[in-house]
Amino acid sequence: MGALEVREGFTELYGAEPEGVWAAPGRVNLIGEHTDYNDGFVMPFALPHVTTAVVASRDDGVLRLHSADVPGAPVELRVDDLAPESDRNWTGYPAGVVWALREAGHEVTGADVHLASTVPTGAGLSSSAALEVVVALALNDLYALGLKGWQLARLCQRAENVYVGAPTGIMDQTASACCESGHALFLDTRDLSQRQIPFDLAAEGLRLLVVDTRVQHAHSGGEYGRRRAGCEKGAALLGVDALRDIPYGGLDAALADLAGEEEVARLVRHVVTENGRAERVVTLLESGDIRSIGPILTEGHASLRDDFRVSCPELDLVVDTALASGALGARMTGGGFGGSAIVLAESSDVPALTKAIEQSFRDAGHGTPRVFEAVPSAGARRLA
Ligand code: GLA
Repeated sequence: MGALEVREGFTELYGAEPEGVWAAPGRVNLIGEHTDYNDGFVMPFALPHVTTAVVASRDDGVLRLHSADVPGAPVELRVDDLAPESDRNWTGYPAGVVWALREAGHEVTGADVHLASTVPTGAGLSSSAALEVVVALALNDLYALGLKGWQLARLCQRAENVYVGAPTGIMDQTASACCESGHALFLDTRDLSQRQIPFDLAAEGLRLLVVDTRVQHAHSGGEYGRRRAGCEKGAALLGVDALRDIPYGGLDAALADLAGEEEVARLVRHVVTENGRAERVVTLLESGDIRSIGPILTEGHASLRDDFRVSCPELDLVVDTALASGALGARMTGGGFGGSAIVLAESSDVPALTKAIEQSFRDAGHGTPRVFEAVPSAGARRLA
């Protein structure tokens, strides 16, 4: 649905003109997986897929939320009544943002919101971060709060952690708020310092495919929390604030200290090697050598599969098939247990690769995956 149509939807729904239109994208993560809640490095880029929000402010304490993707009338809430973990529906994300802004002392007195999204849901492509960030950006503008992208990302993460009750890191919201077109975002999640890394695949004759397996295994939420708790246990056992503090050169000593803690040791090995991979990838990209990142992406997948244990047969099948069909590198992206994989390939290999992946899913009796090209796109912005 185009922005104009969403705008018309607002007028029909609320019988008034909106004050503006905003968009915030979904993301894929190139490298640096399950490192963000360990104060480590990540490198996401924004997708062209966005959540659009058409919004008008209100001064009577009423918050009305509607999505073109969900049939029915707007959900009506009172900003004074918003309370953590009170809303298990999609409306918990935007309501959580209003709650987080107010909790931080910003006077947000209500809004009428109409949304529509082209970000695939349940695909590990951060549709919830897009939803949070677009609402945060709209309210930031309408209430003249003057918050920067990284500050909005922090508030959105708080909405997700506390209001929705999902213990996620800061990557997705920062990606949606801060990415720039044609670039990947190298983010240090410890202090949120950022570098925009030029990532022009087409100029190099390359493509990056996203393969959405269209499966999301039911236990993913609980397993995410378990991995996070295991990492925190590892940091505590090793006497550091976060696993980020274990340098790559200190890995063997750390593993020796964790003798008898086999599960924690595996988690630690993934996080430490993954931070190392993120640093290698940024160095290669900054020297203009995109092709050489392929094997590092594939190494990252093996580590997520064997050490962190967050892959699944469908994701492994995408990676194995892509590599067997000539891809330069491939890995799962996002939290895992379903969702999407990314594949780096020569442009000329894309048609055959896509066919091979689709055929492998048919042969294995899986549903048809959704394959599309990911072009590094703009972060959250005002459209009108
Ligand atoms: C999900 C979370 C992120 C991050 C990734 C794994 O996308 O929302 O914060 O932890 O998983 O890298």
